[in-house]
Amino acid sequence: MAKIIAGVGSSHVPAIGAALDNGKTEEPYWKRVFSGFEKSKQWMANTKPDVAIVVYNDHASAFSVEMIPTFALGCAAEFPPADEGWGPRPVPVLKGHPALAAHIAQSVILDEFDLTVVNKMEVDHGLTVPMNLLFGTPKEWPCPVIPLAVNVVMYPPPTGHRCYMLGKAIRKAVESYPEDLKVVIFGTGGLSHQISGPRAGLINSKWDKSFLDNLTKDPKKLTRIPHLDYMREAGAEGIEMVMWLIMRGALDDKVDEVYRFYTVPASNTAVGHIILENRRKAASKGKRAPAAKSRQAATRKAAHRIASKGQR
Ligand SMILES: [Fe+2]
Repeated sequence: MAKIIAGVGSSHVPAIGAALDNGKTEEPYWKRVFSGFEKSKQWMANTKPDVAIVVYNDHASAFSVEMIPTFALGCAAEFPPADEGWGPRPVPVLKGHPALAAHIAQSVILDEFDLTVVNKMEVDHGLTVPMNLLFGTPKEWPCPVIPLAVNVVMYPPPTGHRCYMLGKAIRKAVESYPEDLKVVIFGTGGLSHQISGPRAGLINSKWDKSFLDNLTKDPKKLTRIPHLDYMREAGAEGIEMVMWLIMRGALDDKVDEVYRFYTVPASNTAVGHIILENRRKAASKGKRAPAAKSRQAATRKAAHRIASKGQR
């Protein structure tokens, strides 16, 4: 049986991709950002997922304003990086997992979530930047990817509650797939940011941190946040944060937060990152394995050290 073992939340700031592609990762401004993902890359290398489901939004790369599906599931065998105006990013073509993707489409659609099935799609920074942050810059991506594109660019985006419930349906779909596969699910975008208008550059660290706290401890509270609150508190583009709720919905109600990183700014955006693990069987009975406990304590300590350096 396939199983979702963990969720990753990560901003997908395009300037992070540009910094990587233009060799700026050692510059102090960018080093502050990239250093926050070093432990995450190690975590991912240890975790070795068989498949990654990446929830992201397309930024008018694959879908123009002429046609914007609310939820679009990539079922193709491969997904080339999109040309976002400067040529495609120099990252490997992403291999898909058509069999699992088709299974998810069937299960979720029959569960009354009407996804759009996409059999040909290019993917933009919304997907490729988090891949770099968690997997580094390999010649080939180490696992296949199933992209799930969510409309958060044109009103009305889906509600946080709808996203959370879709996450639950995705989990059910994955767990009914017969092959033994370790699956990690990403929620990307955000955190607070606004890229145009009189409030351009808006960052609300207090809101972001509260969102991250609740993502771990009380995600249902987040599902009740209306669109207008995201807009008001987190900026027009802060609505991207609803995508993190798909990731969270696909996990257990109680999870272990094994890592968190937050820094501002990157470009004009707050960068947030979290890794949540489903508890293993022994842990779900209230007894966490000692090794897991000490590992979490160590990663939390490191995360706070890095985060406090990066915050202002
Ligand atoms: Fe975005």
